This record gives sequence, C-alpha cells and structure tokens, in this order.
Amino acid sequence: MESKENIEIHEGLSGIYIDISSICKVDGINGKLYYRGYPIQVLAERSSFEEVCYLLLYGRLPKKQELDDFSEKLKKERSITDQTKQIITSLGRKAQALDVLRTVMSSISAYDETPYSSEESKNIEKAIRIISKTATMAAAIGRIKKGEQILEPDQSLGHAENFLFMLTGKKPDKDAAKLIDVMFILHAEHSSNASTFATLVTCSTLADIYAGVTAGVAALKGPLHGGADEAALKMMIEIGQPENTEKYIEDALAGKKKIMGFGHRVYKTYDPRARILKSYLDIVKNKSTEDIKRLIDISLRAEKMMIEKLGQSHGIWPNVDFFSGPLYMYLGIEPEMFDTVFASSRTVGWCSHVIEYWKNNKLFRPLEEYQGPLDVEYVGIEERN
Ligand SMILES: CC(C)(COP(=O)(O)OP(=O)(O)OC[C@H]1O[C@@H](n2cnc3c(N)ncnc32)[C@H](O)[C@@H]1OP(=O)(O)O)[C@@H](O)C(=O)NCCC(=O)NCCS
Repeated sequence: MESKENIEIHEGLSGIYIDISSICKVDGINGKLYYRGYPIQVLAERSSFEEVCYLLLYGRLPKKQELDDFSEKLKKERSITDQTKQIITSLGRKAQALDVLRTVMSSISAYDETPYSSEESKNIEKAIRIISKTATMAAAIGRIKKGEQILEPDQSLGHAENFLFMLTGKKPDKDAAKLIDVMFILHAEHSSNASTFATLVTCSTLADIYAGVTAGVAALKGPLHGGADEAALKMMIEIGQPENTEKYIEDALAGKKKIMGFGHRVYKTYDPRARILKSYLDIVKNKSTEDIKRLIDISLRAEKMMIEKLGQSHGIWPNVDFFSGPLYMYLGIEPEMFDTVFASSRTVGWCSHVIEYWKNNKLFRPLEEYQGPLDVEYVGIEERN
C-alpha cells in the first residue's frame, strides 16, 4: 500500500474487503479453511464432491433424498452437444487445454434460451449445468489432446470418478476414486481469489453466469494462480533425482527465483489443503511407478528445505499446488491438464459466489489515481517529428 497525496493505493487490492460472504472462510493465520462453516478436513474425509456442491450452492448440507436428487440432476446434465465436441476437436490439438475450455465454456450459453436470470433457483439450475458439463468438456479436451476418442459419461459413477474415467478411459479403483473426489473438494472454492473476483466483476454488470464463469477460467490461466501446480511439477521433473533437490532450491533462491507451489496472499502458514494432499502421498507411493515415487521424494525434500529456509522467517509455506502434481500424475492426469481440472472443480465456487453476490449486486468500479500530463496540445500527424 502506498500513500500519495492522501490517496491510498491498494496494489492488487491486497487487504481490501469487497463484500460480506457466508460461503468460505480462509483463516490465513491459523491455516484453516471452512466451506459454509465446515472445516475442510472433515469435508475431505467424510463428504463427496456432490455434497460439497450442494453445500456451497444452497448454504447447508443436504438430506439423503436431496443429495440423491441433486446427484441425479448433475448426471442428467453430463452430456455435451456434437457442436461442442466439434469445437473441442478443432481447437484441441493446437490450443492449450485451458484456452479450449474457456472457448467452449463461453459457447454453452448458446444452449440456454435465457442465459441471464435474476431468479436464484434458475441460477442454481444453470450452475448445475455448468458444473456437470465442464467436467465432460474438460475430459473431452484431454482425450483430444492425446489423440483419443471422446468418451461418453458412465452414469454408474460419481461426478469426480466419472470425470477421471472420461479422461483416462479407465474406471478408477476405490483409492483413486476417493483421491480425485478429494482433489475436487479441495479445489471447489477459495473465497475471493483472482478468478472468483474476475467472475464477480463480470457478473456485477449483470452479464449472465456463463460470462462470469468464462472470465473465471480466463483468470485462472496464469502461473500465479491456476498454473502453479504445473509449474511446480515441471520443477520437480527438472530436479530429476531426489539428491539434487537441495542444491536446486538453494540456487533458485539465490537467483531470486520463486518456487511455485509455495507462498500465498492470505495463508502465512501451511495451507490446510496442502496438508491433506501431503497425507495422500503415503497412500499412493507404494502403488506408484518409479518415476512418480521419485517425484514424491523430491516434493518432500523440497518442502522440508523451503520450510526451513522461508517458513517461519518469511511466512512462505506450501500451498495447495505443491503436492497436486505428483498426485495428478498418479491418477493419470497429464501436466497440461492440471489447470483445466482445477477449473472443473472451481466452477461450483464461482457459481456460488455469483448467486450470493446478485442478492445485493453492486457494479464493481474501482478508481485509479491518474498521474500524467493534462490538457496536452494535439499536434496533427503531418506536423509530428
Ligand atoms: C502466491 C503469491 C503470488 C502471493 O504472494 P504475494 O502476497 O503477492 O507476495 P509477493 O509475490 O510480493 O512475495 C513477497 C516476498 O516473498 C517472496 N516469495 C513469495 N513467494 C515465493 C515463492 N514461492 N518462492 C520464493 N520466494 C517467494 C517474494 O520473492 C517476495 O520477496 P521480496 O520481498 O524479497 O521481494 C506468491 O507467493 C507466489 O508467486 N507464489 C508462487 C506461485 C504459486 O504457488 N501460486 C499459487 C497460489 S495458491
């Protein structure tokens, strides 16, 4: 924050509250995360992605019949049109996965006769459509990228495991099904981060929810947000052997390089989502290939060293993106798909925020302090030197 002539500039809106929300609490000091008041650890252990979607959208846990009906609605929305498949097929090989998702996300508003609605119940229906179809579109993008056929959903599977099936072509075993479900839960929501804020800014103009979610996907792309897990994994691959880890980190920090998957604008301690993911490394390691075992060892050595160097002293700790890479690899998800998988789970957070924000909508319109000349004399083009 800088002060200029009594004007406070809040770079990156750091420390600025934009609204009151009952969706998510990020306690960055104590390293805690709550969805609608429920600690993330409990949801990761005992809930399902479908139940978490219900919780985020409706503000309470469903009863058994409500959850069954909700899961059925999600299943009914899984299919995508031939036109959507064509867009994915024509762009899929060349464009980056998240760019394809951004484009098809925008296009699905065409299948909704009234993309904008001011009615909450109608917007929840649209959210269900978006959450469900995004998983199918993301999986289809992954298939095309690998030169494989797009698969139809398997209606006997839950949301996250069906996503993994449509992407990899293999029905996940019990452990893999639980892990992908947990990863979807952990990425479902995270308060007013950059992509959620982009979604809200867009929808504060009363643009429809599809436009908002498309903006969310766009904002997720950069390495400071949705791209950090891929960058972290690339670093682990570059490190190569576990015994190279400490020297690599030492050199990177000496060269003032940031280590992706560490640090957070809000958490100044261990990100609770990273702790949950770390606990899964032990579970998957024994069943992993040698390559993935090596990545897991590298990640654990890098984590230890980073905490020693920057943890207590600088408040830079592992975030959700650090351990995601080896776990996604274990599940058969390629690095170029990481951000697209993230987007698939985050759709519920984006939609929940739009629905909440529209209860008391206010157009976002911040200010800039202009610093530059005024009343400059206009010189015709032929007289300019
Ligand atoms: C997420 C992030 C942008 C938040 O940081 P921020 O609050 O904006 O803080 P800054 O980027 O200004 O960093 C503050 C200081 O910590 C250092 N720092 C922050 N993250 C770091 C990292 N991952 N590795 C090494 N140093 C880091 C910065 O270099 C800076 O040091 P300086 O004061 O000597 O210049 C930042 O930590 C980062 O870029 N992390 C890596 C990307 C990532 O993992 N993103 C996913 C977030 S869920």
